Parts: sequence; structure tokens; C-alpha cells
Amino acid sequence: MNEQVQPTGSDPLFNPLSPDFIRDPYPHYDRLRAIDPIHVTPFGQFVTSRHADVSLVMRDKRFGKDFVERSKRRYSEKIMDEPVFRSMSHWMLQSDPPDHTRLRGLVVKAFTARRVEDMRPRIQEIVDQAIDAVIARGHMDLIEDFAFRLPVTIICDMLGIPEDHREVFYKSSRDGGRLLDPVPLSPEEIAKGNAGNMMAQMYFQQLFELRRKNPGDDLITQLVQAEEDGNKLTNEELTANIILLFGAGHETTVNLIGNGLLALHRNPDQLALLKARPELMTNAIEEFLRYDSSVQMTGRVALEDIDDLGGRQIPKGETVLCLLGSANRDPAVYPDHPDRLDVTRPNVRPLSFGGGIHFCLGAQLARIEAEIAIATLLRRLPDLRIDDVENPKWRPTFVLRGLTQLPASW
Ligand code: HEM
Repeated sequence: MNEQVQPTGSDPLFNPLSPDFIRDPYPHYDRLRAIDPIHVTPFGQFVTSRHADVSLVMRDKRFGKDFVERSKRRYSEKIMDEPVFRSMSHWMLQSDPPDHTRLRGLVVKAFTARRVEDMRPRIQEIVDQAIDAVIARGHMDLIEDFAFRLPVTIICDMLGIPEDHREVFYKSSRDGGRLLDPVPLSPEEIAKGNAGNMMAQMYFQQLFELRRKNPGDDLITQLVQAEEDGNKLTNEELTANIILLFGAGHETTVNLIGNGLLALHRNPDQLALLKARPELMTNAIEEFLRYDSSVQMTGRVALEDIDDLGGRQIPKGETVLCLLGSANRDPAVYPDHPDRLDVTRPNVRPLSFGGGIHFCLGAQLARIEAEIAIATLLRRLPDLRIDDVENPKWRPTFVLRGLTQLPASW
């Protein structure tokens, strides 16, 4: 045990929606790793914070998602009557094999490294347009005017959402993130989730009709054809996974760009280094992912009794939370000042994209989007300054870690 890291007073070790945790989760992770690396929450979940345990749980076949049973245990038998939970139960992200294998197999080709490389010119064009739109103004919100538009436009392109439907998505409220947090939803939050889900379902059903009549070279056409082709996927699975792709495709990448830019501006030596040596950008993106991951946690359920996870027994059916953001700063893996941003750090392999069969489908896409966005910003607006770098406004969600806004001037 680390003698210097103690719980303070009656503070719970893991209170992920408290303002202090949202502002800076990393001292809390240090305490968890040092004092109680397999911590049990008041809701009975096991929280893993060390790199070795997090990595093992995500890859080990004795763990899975078990979404329906897990949700019933957490809420009640009736929870699957809620449309938003029914929809989530069809997400590949929440499925176990063989459903997971089938659903992922239908879309995986669109995300191969080669396909994503081919998107570079389009990504560059969108980034340049975003800068062109504000350059004369001398100031912008790096989230709304810059980071947000790129991944939304790209995922709209990939899904085949027509240009004239997109404005509503650019203005959307980005408040679906609470669904992923490890603290149960209130009835009001479930009702809000249901309403959002209904709206999305209505919109996408219309688009499916359009693509049945006018097929395109896009993911929706591909999946609509798979649905018509017999038993490859149901209509509910089709809709749910399009909603998943749409959400997963932008919320996380906005935050990789936003958190990365904030980290750089809080570390002016690293900012100067990256401007002087743009060839470091690929490594810098891995370091941004490690240093302040836009996804802080994922989870699994024990599919059988586990005798020994970091010295604890995990009974079958119990949920294990994997703190990706904590694993990324574990001194056992990053002995050289894990709390320091170092764009030259060797061997950075963040767990931010998860691991095992659910390893992020969009990892390479997100990396390239962030690389082009940040490199172009440093090149075209070299004297950009963040207005209040010490008091950033964090969104109130834990799993999806990102900023509400990040005003900057030049
Ligand atoms: C910085 C950006 C991103 C981060 C940090 C991130 C993180 C993650 C993580 C941690 C998982 C795995 C969860 C688990 O193991 O339970 C995941 C899965 C997934 N991600 Fe991402 N993601 C990002 C961007 C994207 C993008 C751009 C897309 C799509 C366009 C995407 C689509 C998905 C999908 C579909 C899954 C589910 C895969 C499966 O269950 O097989 N993600 N992501």
C-alpha cells in the first residue's frame, strides 16, 4: 500500500458524478489503485483501477456484457419494457457472442485502416472549412465551432445522412451520455432517454425507407440490404446499431480533440515542442488518449464465479467496472511520471479504446480525425490561446469525459 495516499475523512473512494471527481478524477484513481484496487461500490459493483486487472477483465472470456440480466438486476424485471433499454440491448457494444460477432461483422469493413486512410482528404477539407468560417473573427469555441463539426460530419457521411438533414445534428444537445454512467438512472432520466430514442427511431426509419428506394454507397444502405436479405439482422437491431454508431462516432472524438487541446495549452512546453516538431503528432495523439481519455470506463459481467481477481472473488453475475482513465496512469506501466503530459513518451499504449472483442471499431478513424484537426489548428492558428485554461467547464458525465465549451482567441 502507498502510505502517502489515504482516503480523506469520510469521502467515498469512488463517487464518479461528484463535481470534484468530474473536475479531476486522477487523484481519486491514485487512491483507488493504492488503497483498494478492487473496490466494491454501494451498488455492489466491483471497480478495477490497476492496468493489469482492467486489461485482463476486458479480454478474458469469463467476462461478458450480459446486458439484459445485468439491467434487470440493477433496476427490475420490467426495465426491458423501457424503449431505451430495449434499444441498448441490441447494441453490439452490449451484446455477447454469437450476436456480437454477427452484428460487428456486418459493419467492420467500413472501418478498416485502409478505408479510414482514404478518408484523409475529406477530413482535411472539413477541418479547413471549420477554420475558414471563423478565422476572421479572432475567437471561437473550440468545442462547438471546431471539434464537434468534424466527427458529426464524418459519421453523417458514412451513414449516408443527407446534407440538408444535418443542421439539426450540429445543434443537438449532446446529453445522451448519462446512459453510460455507472450510477442508476432516475425515472426522469429514463423518460428523457426514451424520448430521445423515439425521436432517433422515427428519423432513422424514414431514412431506411429512403435508402430502400434509393440505395447509396453508405452504411445505412448496407445494413438495410442485410436486413432485407433474410436473417442477418432484425429491424430493431438495425435501428439500435445505427443509433449506437451515430452516438459513438461523434461524442467520443469531440472529446479527444477538446481534451487534447486543453492538455496541450495547460502544458506550454509540450505545445511549443509539437509546433516545432509536427512529426510527433501521431505519438502525441496516443499520449492525449492516455493522459485524459474521452472514455473513462467500460464494464463487464462475470459469466462464471471468478476465484481470484486481484485477490478478490467475483461471484457469477456481478458487474466489474474497468477504469480506463486510471489504468492509463498506472505507474506500474508508466513509471516515468504518469501524471505528466509528454508527447515524446515511448511505448504509449492507452486502454482508452477498450480491449478484447469489443475493441473500439472507430479507433483508427478517431485517431486520424484528431491528428488532422489538431495538426491543422496548430499550423493555421499558431498564436491561438485558450481564454481561461485553468477553469475549463466539464460536462457532468463521468464515462464520457469532455468539455461543454472551450473558448479561444488568436
Ligand atoms: C476517441 C474516440 C473514441 C474512444 C475513446 C472510443 C472508445 C471506445 C471503447 C472504450 C469501446 C469499447 C467498450 C468496451 O470494451 O466495452 C468502444 C467501442 C466501440 N466504439 Fe469507440 N471510441 C471512440 C471513437 C469511436 C468512433 C469514431 C466510432 C465510430 C464511428 C466508434 C464506434 C464504436 C463501436 C461501434 C464500438 C462497439 C464495438 C463492439 O462492441 O464490438 N468509436 N469505443
